[in-house]
This record gives sequence, structure tokens and C-alpha cells, in this order.
Amino acid sequence: MGFRSALFASRYDAATRFAERTELGRRRAALLAGLSGEVIDVGAGTGANLPHFPPSCMVTAVEPDPHMRRRLEAKVGTAVAPVKIADGSAEALPAEDGTVDAVVFTLVLCTVPDQAAALAEARRVLKPGGRLLFLEHVRGTGRHAKMQDLLRPLWSFAAQGCQINRDTVAALKAAGFTASIEDQFTIGPDWVPANPLLMGTATTPD
Ligand SMILES: C[S@@+](CC[C@H](N)C(=O)[O-])C[C@H]1O[C@@H](n2cnc3c(N)ncnc32)[C@H](O)[C@@H]1O
Repeated sequence: MGFRSALFASRYDAATRFAERTELGRRRAALLAGLSGEVIDVGAGTGANLPHFPPSCMVTAVEPDPHMRRRLEAKVGTAVAPVKIADGSAEALPAEDGTVDAVVFTLVLCTVPDQAAALAEARRVLKPGGRLLFLEHVRGTGRHAKMQDLLRPLWSFAAQGCQINRDTVAALKAAGFTASIEDQFTIGPDWVPANPLLMGTATTPD
């Protein structure tokens, strides 16, 4: 486990470089552009979101994996917003109830062990009127979804627990959020198992 997570962290930026340059970088920028106030970047990984948070944000970047967190710390200088890095998890965010303006999940709701627990925790920390921002690969439809179901165990083994067949919008609804999908897109050919991707905003009636 330790060796595999170290290997995954060491390869992460190289493995995602093409996707970041062709699609993800500009999507991250668009998703995060309007943010201000207290923001939690959940499962911040190696810090791909950091350069895109506007200076009006106070960002807490939460990352449970020490190998990822080391890389995240090394990238704090790429941020224009003030950034604090925290050991923690989606299921136990370092914030009091109702104190956070936005909770950001990018490529994380695929990996958290329990989506319902992570979303309930996001809901706990959000202020009334606060927003959950997401950019996630999700379950496809028809034969694509069947392929994702078949590949899921192998994919999860290779990609540190990532579940390619999750219906994340349904999970958001079940957690009491109203999700507004701003964009649906693919990276590479449609058949790539980690397609499609969705980005958008979710709010609660609280
Ligand atoms: C695919 S990476 C995405 C990293 C980053 N958010 C990005 O957009 O590039 C998934 C991240 O989720 C983190 N993660 C896994 N389980 C988690 C949990 N329970 N709570 C928070 N983060 C978690 C992993 O350590 C990893 O950094």
C-alpha cells in the first residue's frame, strides 16, 4: 500500500500532463474563476488546482496521502491565493459547521471510499448559500457503463481506489444537493473508460 501510493504520487503529474494541457487546465480555471472567501480543496493531490484559485480565496488544501501532500507543499508557490495545507480527509474536513464558502472536488469523488459520507461532510461545513464545485469523471450510459462495471476492479487497483463507474450526480442528489451541470466533455476518444467528465456547481436549500 505504501509503495503503491508512493508510486502513484510520483507518476501522477506525468500521467495527467497531456490531459491537463489539452482540457483539464482550462476547465479548472473556468470552474474556480468566480470563487472568493473560505474554500476547501478536498483531496488536493499534487496541487493542480492551486494556480487557478483567485486571490480573493483563502484556500485550505486537504490531502490525506503523505506522498501527494509532499508534492502539494512543493507547489504552494504556484498559487496566487493564500493556501494552507492540511492532513485530513473528505470524511473529516478541518472546518467548523457552516463556515466555508465553497468546497471543491476535482477528480476526487471517484476515489473517496464513501461518497455519501464525503458529501454529508461537505454539507456540514458549507455556509448557507455555499457551493460545492465539482469536476469529475462519472458513469457513462449503455455499453460504456457496462464496460466501466467490468473494468472497475482492475482500474481501482491501478489507480489507487478510483471507481470509474460512479453515478456522482445521483450521489449529489441523494445527499440533498441540487446539481447544476455546466459542462460535459471527454478527454481523448469517447470510449476511454474515464469518460465522460462533468463539471458544475451544487447547492443545498439550507
Ligand atoms: C485522482 S487524485 C485527484 C487530485 C486532485 N484533486 C486533482 O484534481 O488533480 C485523487 C486524490 O484524492 C485523494 N483522496 C483519496 N481518498 C480521499 C479521502 N477519503 N479524502 C480526501 N481525499 C482523498 C487522493 O489521495 C488523491 O490525491
